[in-house]
Amino acid sequence: MPSGAAYKSGPRWRSRGLGSPTTSKATPEIARRSTEGLEGAVLEVELRDVTYDNWEECIALRVSEAQQRMVAPNVYSLAQAKVQPECVPLAIYAGDTMVGFLMYALDRDDGNWWIYRLMIDERYQGRGYGRAALEKAIDRIRKEPGCTKIIVSLKPDNTVARTLYRSVGFVETGQQIGGEDVLCLSW
Ligand SMILES: CC(C)(COP(=O)(O)OP(=O)(O)OC[C@H]1O[C@@H](n2cnc3c(N)ncnc32)[C@H](O)[C@@H]1OP(=O)(O)O)[C@@H](O)C(=O)NCCC(=O)NCCS
Repeated sequence: MPSGAAYKSGPRWRSRGLGSPTTSKATPEIARRSTEGLEGAVLEVELRDVTYDNWEECIALRVSEAQQRMVAPNVYSLAQAKVQPECVPLAIYAGDTMVGFLMYALDRDDGNWWIYRLMIDERYQGRGYGRAALEKAIDRIRKEPGCTKIIVSLKPDNTVARTLYRSVGFVETGQQIGGEDVLCLSW
């Protein structure tokens, strides 16, 4: 039982008494790139490491205000990855544009592979990038040693993410952790 495993994909800061995440609208210029080339056809999605060259772009990605309680800010996730080396943070690219972020890990509490985070910047949502990134992530996580299932937890009212996860094969486990519904993909 992954005690303390709550909010694996959500805003863990709340229960840690860390207060609200920064919701500053000030977004560094670096992320405000032209979306030219992203209109129309959906570009090939690629998962790339977060590095010295792109981490600022990563922390500048934003979901909508209404979605902010669904997922921790990327800066929080990168900080978590620093102190929890089992976390694998990945930037989601469509062509050369970073459109989102995801993070997975072999959970130290329950020994399962989890998708802790998945977000697409609000400017790029609804274009198929979330689904494409999730499918790539699943392909990658499946190849991790000993991986026979992938777990995710979601806010009960996160209908969009629930629909997405269910559509790629995740099923409800009936379990709740930290107020979040747990879904599992196994094979
Ligand atoms: C969930 C999220 C990653 C989806 O990314 P996205 O790029 O917008 O999603 P896609 O365009 O690939 O759509 C994937 C599926 O999501 C669902 N979906 C997307 N937008 C939707 C909307 N506005 N209403 C209902 N369902 C929607 C659909 O099932 C869609 O599949 P379909 O187009 O084949 O019907 C994105 O909405 C997001 O970042 N949300 C905030 C963070 C979050 O909730 N993360 C999950 C918990 S960690």
